[in-house]
Amino acid sequence: MSITAEIRVGDKTLPLPVIVGTEQEVGLDIQALRDKTGAVTFDPGYGNTGACESAVTFLDGELGILRYRGYPIEQLAGKVSFLEVSWLLLKGELPNAAELAAFTAAEKAHRALPAHVHAIIAAFPADAHPMAILSAATLSLSSTYLADEKVTEAGLNKSQLLLLAQFPTIAAAIYRKGKGLAAVAPDAKLAYSANFLHMMFEGTGNAAAGDPEIAKALDLLLILHADHEQNCSTSTVRLVGSAQTDYFASIAAGITALWGPLHGGANQAVIEMLDGIVAHGGDVNWAVAQAKDKDSSFRLMGFGHRVYKNFDPRATIIKVQADVVLGKLGKNDPQLGIAKGLEEAALKDEYFVARKLYPNVDFYSGIIYRALGFPYGLFTVLFAIGRLPGWTAHWNEHNAGKAKIGRPRQIYTGKNARDVVELSKR
Ligand code: SDX
Repeated sequence: MSITAEIRVGDKTLPLPVIVGTEQEVGLDIQALRDKTGAVTFDPGYGNTGACESAVTFLDGELGILRYRGYPIEQLAGKVSFLEVSWLLLKGELPNAAELAAFTAAEKAHRALPAHVHAIIAAFPADAHPMAILSAATLSLSSTYLADEKVTEAGLNKSQLLLLAQFPTIAAAIYRKGKGLAAVAPDAKLAYSANFLHMMFEGTGNAAAGDPEIAKALDLLLILHADHEQNCSTSTVRLVGSAQTDYFASIAAGITALWGPLHGGANQAVIEMLDGIVAHGGDVNWAVAQAKDKDSSFRLMGFGHRVYKNFDPRATIIKVQADVVLGKLGKNDPQLGIAKGLEEAALKDEYFVARKLYPNVDFYSGIIYRALGFPYGLFTVLFAIGRLPGWTAHWNEHNAGKAKIGRPRQIYTGKNARDVVELSKR
């Protein structure tokens, strides 16, 4: 497909090089725009702006397509392990048996936390949000590993392996500290998600610890969250990394971006919203009316997406998983019925149809997490554990190229030049 483009600014016409991606997406290369015309583009929220070329993930919001390194999410979720998907995102190919065995052994060998991380977790106030603690713990690791790890190709890979191995250990330590329980040591006999459930719930009477089917369901959820191209937190990791900031600090920044309720924090906000609807007699129509009322601050959390304007393929899979997991646990959660009722009502309502608002990845996931016994504050930490390999793949991709520091321009709308007036005359 040969496409030409040009832009006319006043009496200047600038031919624009055109980039066509492997999925035929068209990008207008405007790198010379300001030099040649003096103008910049204006695109708050970057909805029309390609920040980079990337080979990690492809998604098509109109068709509801999501592929990691070319593999459709439907072929990965529940069919390969989260560690295999992590390797895929980081290396570009699914691991063979030898690679997976070595990767698994290395991950298992590095799950334990340095002592100072436990001290950081303990030092946070009891009501601190787990995402704040996760970010601080992650940031602290840059003083532990890179100091004695030469930042070589291997060193960098080891740092990234360390974080993948230790995220669940940090999450479990945060949870057990909050419960006044001693941390549970990682168990190298257990696979990634089974070990996480073990460290979380061992000795608490929660049957999720030690249940292989629950571990498989959690692994599937982590896979569904593993990457999503240039979302807010991934763009944050790339931007911070573009300043040659160290890997751990870049991830710590991504964690704080994900925390926002408009982004990954929505999975916690959805459950809190559903609690509110339960308190309102489970009145779905009331909630839909509130969501449409411009004078109401109520938003249907877990609905809408910047890119998906049809359906979020992850939500489709998670909705099925909710029935499977709650059925397995013998739990009858009224919130699941309310969530399905909300989806049904919204999909028939012109307000949502006209704005192409459909359930996103966060709409049903919290129902599963709650059924598994995770506290609300840990839901977005689970999202971060899933997203870590994606963040890392993008950080590596940005730094592998001729990484320019990210520095957007602006349109200034403030005061024109004026002179300072001395205090006595102000
Ligand atoms: C994630 O980008 C990614 O890939 C993110 C993610 C990933 O994997 O990384 O997929 C994960 O962050 C999913 C999104 C989780 N957030 C939520 O569920 C929060 C609720 N949803 C929204 O606030 C909103 O839909 C966003 C933030 C997701 C998208 O916002 P946009 O694209 O900026 O759209 P917008 O806010 O401009 O809304 C457009 C219209 C507005 O109405 P009008 O002004 O046109 O009348 O739709 C309305 C909005 O008021 N609208 C909603 C709504 N979402 C949008 N109205 C009610 N309820 C909602 N949830």
